Amino acid sequence: RVLVLDFGSQYAQLIARRVREQNVYCEIVRHSITAERVRELAPIGIILSGGPSSVYAQGAPLCDPKLFELGIPVLGICYGMQLMCQALGGKVDSAPAREYGRAECDIVEADGLFAGVPKQTQVWMSHGDQVAGISNDFTPLAKTSTCPYAAVKHKRLPFFGLQFHPEVTHTPEGSTVLRNFLHGACGAEGTWKLGDFAAETIERIRQEVGNDRVICGLSGGVDSSVVAAMLAKAIGPQLSCILVDNGLLRQAEEEAVVAEFTQHFKTDLHVVKGEERFLTALAGVTDPQEKRRRIGHTFIDCFVDEAKKIKGAKFLAQGTLYPDVIESGAAPDGPADTIKLHHNVGGLPAELGFELIEPLRDLFKDEVRRLGLQLGLPEEIVWRHPFPGPGLAVRCLGEVTREKLDTLRAADAIVVGEIKAAGLYRSTSQAFAVLLPVQSVGVMGDSRTYDNALAVRCVNTDDFMTADWSHLPYEVLARISTRVINEVKGVNRVVYDISSKPPATIEWE
Ligand code: XMP
Repeated sequence: RVLVLDFGSQYAQLIARRVREQNVYCEIVRHSITAERVRELAPIGIILSGGPSSVYAQGAPLCDPKLFELGIPVLGICYGMQLMCQALGGKVDSAPAREYGRAECDIVEADGLFAGVPKQTQVWMSHGDQVAGISNDFTPLAKTSTCPYAAVKHKRLPFFGLQFHPEVTHTPEGSTVLRNFLHGACGAEGTWKLGDFAAETIERIRQEVGNDRVICGLSGGVDSSVVAAMLAKAIGPQLSCILVDNGLLRQAEEEAVVAEFTQHFKTDLHVVKGEERFLTALAGVTDPQEKRRRIGHTFIDCFVDEAKKIKGAKFLAQGTLYPDVIESGAAPDGPADTIKLHHNVGGLPAELGFELIEPLRDLFKDEVRRLGLQLGLPEEIVWRHPFPGPGLAVRCLGEVTREKLDTLRAADAIVVGEIKAAGLYRSTSQAFAVLLPVQSVGVMGDSRTYDNALAVRCVNTDDFMTADWSHLPYEVLARISTRVINEVKGVNRVVYDISSKPPATIEWE
């Protein structure tokens, strides 16, 4: 495996994904990990990530200097390069001009790290500091007009530094450089395969579960479906799935999940009809966070009531993903900073007394999708847009009522249906309708109307932390608008949301 030391970079996860794309297993660990612990983990290579700090600032995150004595190849990226060069006798200073964006890079030494890369290539820079002087042990590999050491290597040891970011797509040769590091310097074989991962995980689940019963919550989303598929393969008849229909699902969603489920898994399925309970809990509530809180509690109540009926269950399976584990600070050697407490980690209350099974804990979302396809799940499940746990309640602004939900469901089905019909579902990340608590005047036939406004939201994003609104063709927007106004009673106006995140969020509540 390869370790990525995280110095607070927004790109650490991206680096890890890029490494895994080369079929080399990779984990993110905190920057303060000791050299002793690294020796125990015995990685074939270490990557030092970028980070927002200056290496010479007080309290800047550092790494154990003994890391450079282990004989393990090291690649420092941006801050990571500056840190390594400074630790090994070089000098870091603020750059004459802060450099953000694309830059032309001249390769000085074309073999090794830059084998197969053209002599002039574009790279993505994002830095205020840079290495201003290197010790005699280092030699430059590349430069740009403002950055004399865009890439460096140690003369005797397998240490490399890149001032630019090879992990972003704006550095077209980035994956070649990473591959050269992994396969050249680290001697990686590139044999880590998702298929092997699936087979090993299924075998491990079998061993762990023995003859006991496992409960798995099913939402119809890709994560829980892949978990269910793995468990079905591992311990089929000992699996019980619970689907809570909270009345906040999209049109015909419950039926679709049940149909897909019965077709693909053929195991014990419990559908909890919870609509009344959820709507009662939501009556009169307008505050978005309070809605989420009540939905969360009601979900747990429904789930627990049903789980109690399943005799002999010892395990609970959850679709926790690697980014959830990392961001919640729950990984043993992972970054310690809690960015957010993800609802999936820990999820259901511990007092339920189940042992957790989290087969996707080491995977990124795109890996989960690939795994889903390998396990034979249909494309509709694997490529389904994410849908928030609180469902349509956070897209029905203000108080949630059954009538509003029905209106929203009908409009949402048209929005998504037209986007699918135009072949745009896969190239957009999330598309949906939002029912606004706004009435406006319209005219239909000869009569005046005073009805609701509907917002259409469609975004493109890699990680859902930042997002851009999708530049949908006018014809698609026109069809959505005409159909919604003609077909959905109670809506007389459609608007398109052209806000990016940040400063807006993807959901309206
Ligand atoms: P925002 O609105 O924060 O959404 O830009 C980012 C992503 O998270 C989803 N989302 C949620 N998912 N429970 C969830 O399970 C929630 O309360 C929740 N709120 C937002 C949203 O759909 C988007 O994919």
